[in-house]
This record gives sequence, structure tokens and C-alpha cells, in this order.
Amino acid sequence: MVAHRGASGHRPEHTLASYSLAIAMGAEYIEPDLVSTRDGVLVARHENEIGGTTDVARQPGFASRRATKVVDGVETTGWFTEDFTLAELKTLRAVERLPLARPGNTVHDGRFEVPTFEEILTLAREASRRTGREIGVYPETKYPSYFAGLGLGLENPLLAALRRHRMDHRGAPVFLQSFETSNLRALAQLTPLPLVQLIDHEGAPADLVARGEHTTYADLLAPAALAEIATYATGLGVAKDLVLPRDRVTGAVGTPSSLVRDAHTASLLVHVWTLRAENQFLPTNFRHGTDPHAHGDLVGETWAHLEAGVDGVFSDFPDLAVAARDGRPDLRRGRAS
Ligand code: G3P
Ligand code: CA
Repeated sequence: MVAHRGASGHRPEHTLASYSLAIAMGAEYIEPDLVSTRDGVLVARHENEIGGTTDVARQPGFASRRATKVVDGVETTGWFTEDFTLAELKTLRAVERLPLARPGNTVHDGRFEVPTFEEILTLAREASRRTGREIGVYPETKYPSYFAGLGLGLENPLLAALRRHRMDHRGAPVFLQSFETSNLRALAQLTPLPLVQLIDHEGAPADLVARGEHTTYADLLAPAALAEIATYATGLGVAKDLVLPRDRVTGAVGTPSSLVRDAHTASLLVHVWTLRAENQFLPTNFRHGTDPHAHGDLVGETWAHLEAGVDGVFSDFPDLAVAARDGRPDLRRGRAS
């Protein structure tokens, strides 16, 4: 049960408040996406462009930092973490990414800082001590090739922080994840921690694209490619539609694909992302009504993935993920057929 960006269905994502609530809700792992500051400090943001998740646009002192860059082939305009020192970033405050879908979260806009990876590791350690549960961390390196190109490689500071917190040894409650392949292969030579190859439902790993290779994520799911991934990774983190494909006409899910079976044959774990309660993110047969922001049957969707054999789930709603795991039908408001 991985709390995706913390309990991001309930608090602005990637804040200590979001991770703390996720732990209180029973999450086993908290998931920080990691990017770098100008001075090489790892902080938790989903993108290095922070206009959508902080109040930077409302800070006149940083107006001149607005820039247009190409990140993994995509032209993006905004404010970028690599142009801010940690001290500067710490003057900003997080805001809700999805204010229309999650208006309740906006009451927290302006309250919470952008956390460092160090702060998140400290939070996990203190929560483990306080609760008696082992709280794991599941960090993702974001845009690793891009940051390496800036001289701000993510891997060494990632491992150094884990080492300082004595979470770098085999058996520590840590998974390291990446959408790229090269940095996972490099990490496999540097750490005994389990690695997770992320697989999107379309496209290709940015590192392979940059090298001019034509291997897509779909190619990586062929049995021979899975066997190759198993030489450096412990598991796959896959887009949920790859496990439960949607009918192209109805948008409903039904029979699982062969992905879980194929991955398990290659001795790879399968973790799916991202399970979210709002109708707009659910297959049609788990929606309630037609309001895209209303909540549907996330417990039902989570059960469907668990029944398909996945080994873990990333959810914005760790409370509901834990409820599904614990089989509490009283929280299941009727699974549509
Ligand atoms: O890391 C698993 C999942 O979080 C991947 O999607 O884009 O939310 O980081 P994203
Ligand atoms: Ca992630």
C-alpha cells in the first residue's frame, strides 16, 4: 500500500502533511517524487516545473525566474527547481494541484513547505518509532537524464541520504523507481536496494529516446524484455490500464491482461499506479454518476487489481487502499457490473 505523493487525495501532494496523514491512514510506504534544487538538494515535487503545485507565480521576487525549457522533449514554461536554491524554495508554499476535483484540499494552500528528501526520511523514521510499524519510502527519480545533464545527478544524493538514515542496506523498507532504464541499471551496481522499472501505457523511456533507440514501454513488456529487466530490477511499476485494459468503446475494465502472469514468470513484482477515487480517473464500471469530480468505487477498483494478482498499489487515497486490502465491504458502496 503505497501512498502516492502522500495522502494526496486529502492534502496538497508532496508535503509533510500529506505524508503524515498517509501514515496515519495505514500506508506502508510513502512515495516522494524527487527533483533537484540548484544547490543539489533533493526535494519532493512531481515535476521540476513548480508553477502548478506551489505559490511561486504569486511571488514577485521570483518573476524573473520564469523560463521556457525543453524537458524530456517537451517544451515547458514556468519556474524550475534547478533555478532555485533550497533556501529560496523554502520560502514557497505548496498549493493543491487539482483544485476543481479536490476543493477541500485548497484550504491548506499556502500552509506547507516543499519538503526535502531528508525531511521525508526523518518523518518516516520518527513515524516508525512512534507507531511501531515499519514505514517505508518509495522514492522516484524524476527526469534523471535531464538532471544529470545539468550536473545535478539524482542518484548519488539519493543514496547518500539513505545511507545517512541507515536505509541503504538490503532489507531496508525502500524501493527506488524510475521511468528511465539507464539510471536503474547504474543504481543496481551501487545499491542492494530493490529497484522498480516504471512502465507507462504509451511512449518510451526518455533515456532510450535520447540515445536514438526505438524501444517503447510496450516493448519492455515482452517476455524476453521482462527477463532482461529482472537482471537489474525487482519489480515493475505499471500504469493500471496495462493490468486491467479498458474496453475501447465502453471504458470498462474486465479480464486482466497477461502482464501480471508474465512479470511473475520473470520473477518481477508488479505495483500499479495510480488509484484515485474521482470518477474521471476510474474505469466506467467503477464510476458513480457522471460528475467527473465525484467519487466512485475506488475500493472496488482496488479489489479488482488485487484480484488480478498485483503485489502493490499506489493510491492517492491510502485510507481506501488499506480498507480494500483489509476487505472491509462496509466501505464498498456497491461495485458496478
Ligand atoms: O511512480 C509511480 C507513479 O507515481 C508514476 O506516475 O507520474 O505520478 O509519478 P507519476
Ligand atoms: Ca511517482
